[in-house]
Amino acid sequence: MKKIVITGKGGVGKTTIIATLSRLLSRDSYRVMIIDTDPSMNLAMSMGVPLSDVLTLAAHKTEIRVNTDMDDDGEDNHHSGKIDFEDVLKDFTVKTSDEVRLIVMGTIPFGGAGCICSSVAMVKLLVEHLAANGSEYDFVIVDSQAGSEILGRGLAANYDYNVVVTEAFPKAIDVAKHVMKLAADLKVKRQLVVVNKTANGIDAEKVANALGIDGHDIFTVRHDKKVLEADNNVVQLLDMEPDSVVIDDIRKIKDAVCF
Ligand SMILES: Nc1ncnc2c1ncn2[C@@H]1O[C@H](COP(=O)(O)OP(=O)(O)O)[C@@H](O)[C@H]1O
Ligand SMILES: [Mg+2]
Repeated sequence: MKKIVITGKGGVGKTTIIATLSRLLSRDSYRVMIIDTDPSMNLAMSMGVPLSDVLTLAAHKTEIRVNTDMDDDGEDNHHSGKIDFEDVLKDFTVKTSDEVRLIVMGTIPFGGAGCICSSVAMVKLLVEHLAANGSEYDFVIVDSQAGSEILGRGLAANYDYNVVVTEAFPKAIDVAKHVMKLAADLKVKRQLVVVNKTANGIDAEKVANALGIDGHDIFTVRHDKKVLEADNNVVQLLDMEPDSVVIDDIRKIKDAVCF
């Protein structure tokens, strides 16, 4: 089972890319689980599932944690054996487009409710459980909130890929640089950089130079106004515009992670 985390600055296109990437993998007969760890929880809608149909881990963590000692700082991972992750998978997995399975970590329920650390810790253990019981999924792809929080929490330790999404402007590149450093600290095996919303080849070159990487690990996804149109109509790009250049470009990322 390959483990992939998608990181980068807010608004660069992480969720958009996962929504199509996961379906393309599934159409190639891979079994795919996607997990939304962003408290903004956009991924369900991007997969055509209303959030009202989804149970989130965060909203039910008291029940999940029955008989465990995991506390709210999420640091105590030693009691994972007491969580029945098969039950968690049964109760929280949602079937989406092209048979892609989705789990939504959840959000902060009210102002002042505290951090989401224990929920992130739960996702970390869940992915470890899936990896240990290997046969059920070929890919687990974790969507993340903007910035570096989940890497700081160690969620992606020893993952196969960090797919860093960026645009070709300095603030996005700065975030990319930071998450790449943290992913390297966590011994993520390979980092792929995706320059999204590109208009020309110069963007990729600019990003590659700024990040000090060679062309081998850099991908571009072209800008297409149909992506925004699909978002506005709450439909999926793959259904609305199957011939979009964006899908062609994401197919290359799919080929890279299958390699
Ligand atoms: N290749 C693209 N071309 C045009 N618009 C895009 C493209 N990729 C993403 N977008 C738009 O960018 C915005 C942010 O995308 P999103 O996937 O939500 O970013 P993130 O998950 O990184 O916050 C959305 O409005 C989306 O429609
Ligand atoms: Mg997102």
